[in-house]
Amino acid sequence: MKTLLIVFHTHGVKTARMADAVARGARAALREAESEDAVRIVVKRCAEAGAEDVLGADALILGTPENFGYMSGMMKDFLERVFYPCEGKVEGRPYALFVGAGQDGSGAQTSVERIVTGLRLRKAHEAIVCVQALTPAIAEACETLGATFAAGLAIGTM
Ligand SMILES: Cc1cc2nc3c(=O)[nH]c(=O)nc-3n(C[C@H](O)[C@H](O)[C@H](O)COP(=O)(O)O)c2cc1C
Repeated sequence: MKTLLIVFHTHGVKTARMADAVARGARAALREAESEDAVRIVVKRCAEAGAEDVLGADALILGTPENFGYMSGMMKDFLERVFYPCEGKVEGRPYALFVGAGQDGSGAQTSVERIVTGLRLRKAHEAIVCVQALTPAIAEACETLGATFAAGLAIGTM
């Protein structure tokens, strides 16, 4: 059985809704393909997640708000905790990122991407950056992201 790990942080609402949409899309894709036994979907807040989760995951989707032009402090804490225990052990595994932002989001995106590039994770999907309100189109994009990862893991193409 494969594992899709979704790790996010927020003190608000929007990024949590994006995480919900990613997980919903992943579960729906597995249901549709009758592959629920093929992929385990694990959703954790950054504070609850650690290196064991990352080492045990076949694919990783990260979510953070943009705060002060950077990823949230809790996402940075998570990445600091997992970096050295995971370095050299997760190379090539697919990842993607979603960002909840007020008006920009690029600082959060760049800062996360720089660190996960250091882990040699493989970017398997363009980042989803949601500025201002979470529109149905962006929620759908998050669902599609989750579905793409779950289906890819289930059939072995991810
Ligand atoms: C302390 C703080 C700093 C912020 N800094 C930025 C920023 O640098 N760029 C930006 O686009 N939005 C910024 N925002 C706005 C949030 O990213 C935005 O409200 C986002 O939707 C929060 O998502 P959430 O509901 O998951 O908390 C900031 C918000 C807070 C509370």
